[in-house]
Amino acid sequence: MSYAEAYAVWRGDPERFWGEAAGAIDWIKPCDRVFDETLGHYGRWFPGAVCNTAYNCLDRHVLAGRGAQAALIYDSPITGSQRTFSFAELTSEVATFAAVLADQGVVKGDRVIVYMPMVPEAVIAMLACARIGAIHSVVFGGFAANELATRLDDAQPKVIVSASCGIEPGRIVAYKPLLDSAIDLATHKPQTCIILQRPALAAALHDGRDLDWTSLVEQAHRDGRTAECVPVAATDPLYILYTSGSTGQPKGVVRDNGGHMVALQWSMTNLYGVAPGEVFWAASDVGWVVGHSYIVYAPLLNGTTSILYEGKPVGTPDAGAFWRVASDHKAAVLFTAPTALRAIKKDDPQGLRIHDYDLSHLRALFLAGERADPETVKWAEEHLDIPVIDHWWQTETAWAIAGNPLGLGALPVKRGSPTVPMPGYDVQVLDDAGHPVAEGQLGNIVIKLPLPPACLVTLWNAAERFGPSYADEFPGYYKTSDAGYVDDDGYLFIMGRTDDIINVAGHRLSTGAMEEVLAAHPDVAECAVVGKADALKGEVPVGFLVLKAGVLRDTRVIEQEAVALVRERIGPVAAFKSAVTVARLPKTRSGKILRGTMKKIADGESYRLPATIDDPAILAEIAAALAQK
Ligand code: COA
Ligand code: AMP
Repeated sequence: MSYAEAYAVWRGDPERFWGEAAGAIDWIKPCDRVFDETLGHYGRWFPGAVCNTAYNCLDRHVLAGRGAQAALIYDSPITGSQRTFSFAELTSEVATFAAVLADQGVVKGDRVIVYMPMVPEAVIAMLACARIGAIHSVVFGGFAANELATRLDDAQPKVIVSASCGIEPGRIVAYKPLLDSAIDLATHKPQTCIILQRPALAAALHDGRDLDWTSLVEQAHRDGRTAECVPVAATDPLYILYTSGSTGQPKGVVRDNGGHMVALQWSMTNLYGVAPGEVFWAASDVGWVVGHSYIVYAPLLNGTTSILYEGKPVGTPDAGAFWRVASDHKAAVLFTAPTALRAIKKDDPQGLRIHDYDLSHLRALFLAGERADPETVKWAEEHLDIPVIDHWWQTETAWAIAGNPLGLGALPVKRGSPTVPMPGYDVQVLDDAGHPVAEGQLGNIVIKLPLPPACLVTLWNAAERFGPSYADEFPGYYKTSDAGYVDDDGYLFIMGRTDDIINVAGHRLSTGAMEEVLAAHPDVAECAVVGKADALKGEVPVGFLVLKAGVLRDTRVIEQEAVALVRERIGPVAAFKSAVTVARLPKTRSGKILRGTMKKIADGESYRLPATIDDPAILAEIAAALAQK
């Protein structure tokens, strides 16, 4: 079937389309209806069905004879180690750790926070939760204690699974002190923390609360104890993943079990064109949605081997690292963020290291997480000589809204475009009043409701935020908060966010959350954070500070404190390294800060003087302050 046919079949009868796709999943009980529009915020997929996601990722493949095939290849240049888990071994490890969790009283519906680096135990913990119907919430290791505390209070986990440390180039990140201070900061206290001690740095365990991963698992193995797969409703939550909203309070995206499996399985075959038994590598982190969907769930659902890479694109040890891993493990498809390619290109502009490796198995490179700039796509196409495919999605959707479906016969690539909407997504571009715009004209990108399977079903503990966040502004549509246009071939172009989210090295960050932190500095009267264009990371945040009257301290010291404060409160991942003191912020006459104009000044772009500006002289002051940096 071609893309055009698949899209037309879906449009003609979405329930039939997804009902057929559901045939690729093993259900304990089939659904009553494929879709019930009366349930949830916009309807629910596969109500009445009973299933288990871990069973579909693991046990069923063992039963089908894939037990000896590699399920997970852990490749860690940063620790100099590698380990392969077959489907049978991973099933056994997951069933054992599921029993360990059950021993701690974790039952279906309980939350478990996973705060871990890129080690196989993170994947095992996620799948063990899925096995017993517990809801995992993975928190990315680059977040600070304060962010972890916010998630703790919101998700209220019974257990936290963590590790003694993560390892960044030249730096060991001690997780345990971060975890301890998050628990101190939070109102909710977990019953138990299960800590994986890593050789690079052991952590002190608290009596009565902390337990050692290895001892628990070894004991369970000795006792031969495993936990069986617990049947859950297709509509039950599989996980919560927090993502940046427009304030310091992150949004807990809730993913269901059934729809998630159906859409992810469909995407492996039709979008990525990957078969069971092949090797798929998403070079992301399990803390992000890409890691959830394409390191853990989708490849395993498909009976495909997944690579878990603990390293960087450059420096571990060099810009050939990605090609070495793809070659060693015979990856058929590599998925990464454009920023990683830009880092490689910077160190190896001629792509010389690519030729050190046999990449004959590599069929395609997929990019997502931020806009794939045409220059980077071109460089990769020329040096790798395979299709380089941009695809666009969000934490909320769990899989691509738009892409170039390799499994359905690739469409011509237009650099700078993630190609076309996937079946399931009726993508439209509207003006601010909600009217469709003409082809080629920039507008708000929206998706006609209902959203397809796997997309968020609600926000954890905050169902009332669903409407204001996604559905109220354009009734009948999901607001993506991305702006862009559709060209006359129906290709989508995603140009940027319409809210205060910026994209730093493929990481989604809220400038509003950074402003909240900066405003808490005792010397700061007001502030604004904008995303400045950056050749490597796409964007980096720059904070403008207006100090309180009478503050006589050295502004450089205050700026350094501001940088440290964001790192301490949000984490190193914010990459907030630049604070600039200014006398005033440019505003409209009604007092709205002109962040868009400030960004243009920071980027060195020309700008039109906003008609409503209160005092145009302030723009020159901003430019002068930046020039002095
Ligand atoms: N735990 C703790 N700290 C982490 C971390 C983790 N899991 N991941 C990143 N950090 C830290 C980094 O060490 C860095 O700290 P520093 O300020 O002390 O240097 C900071 O967070 C910023 O990290 P990052 O934005 O990743 O930049 P980098 O300079 O370390 O690396 C790239 C630059 C381009 C190599 C890197 O950004 C990259 O590969 N990104 C991939 C993007 C990606 O996978 N996105 C996911 C969506 S698909
Ligand atoms: P996240 O929720 O972290 O996956 O970030 C989602 C946001 O990243 C989107 O709303 C876009 O702004 C941006 N994004 C992700 N993929 C792409 C892409 N292929 N092209 C343009 N922007 C992208």
